[in-house]
Amino acid sequence: MGKLIIANWKMNPLTAEEAVRVARGEDLPDVAIAAPFLHLATLGRVLRRASLAAQDISSSEARIGPMTGEVSGAMLASFGVRYVLVGHSERRRPPHGKGEDNLLIAAKVRAAVSADITPILCVGEPWNVRRKGFSAAKAYVTKQLIAGLAGYRARAGVRCLVAYEPVWAISTSAHHRTAAPEEAAVMGSCLLEKLEMLLGRRKSAVLYGGSVSASNAATFLALPEFSGLLVGGASLDSREFRRIVGSALPDTADL
Ligand code: PGA
Repeated sequence: MGKLIIANWKMNPLTAEEAVRVARGEDLPDVAIAAPFLHLATLGRVLRRASLAAQDISSSEARIGPMTGEVSGAMLASFGVRYVLVGHSERRRPPHGKGEDNLLIAAKVRAAVSADITPILCVGEPWNVRRKGFSAAKAYVTKQLIAGLAGYRARAGVRCLVAYEPVWAISTSAHHRTAAPEEAAVMGSCLLEKLEMLLGRRKSAVLYGGSVSASNAATFLALPEFSGLLVGGASLDSREFRRIVGSALPDTADL
């Protein structure tokens, strides 16, 4: 398998018709589309090569039950969902309210694994931490990693991926700055080392996310520390997204 490229559509697009149109343009091998819950059933019928991913999951391991507003891992699995984002910075710190803490995030990781869905645990430091320097940032993301995997029970055939997304490098962040690939790679290598200690070498993989575009994807994909990319804004434009995927497959003409 090549490098994995996840399209994080966030709260987009508005209609099912638009979702189908974008998904058709992104239906490629080694791609997973993280769509809003509402579009998952439709996309499950449309996608042939790309996998389906969810952007959230209930922290409960129950298949069904009295939990208003929740969607269980078993439900997601029954729609063919293979991956789920957990602990994205936009859920850790939503515009209103408290957001998700490490306890909740760890429970969601466990719930995903128990439903045979691969969690993509997102970690990344905000700018107020990064500006204190690399050591502070490293301590911050290592803590998120360890806390997110608390109580993790390995299950045959289910991996746990980690996405390193410096919050300040996310395209819509208030403190937006571009992360240099070399600086991302240093953190990627620290995370990979820690993950290998926790989960074993075979099960460990780290993805990179934060303002990935067609113009920088090849550089990030060339870094051995990263097994793939998490792409937000640029994944809403299927032409740009295909160019990103194309940079992972340099031999494939006319993607
Ligand atoms: P971005 O978002 O690619 O628009 O920076 C990435 C993400 O938040 O997952």
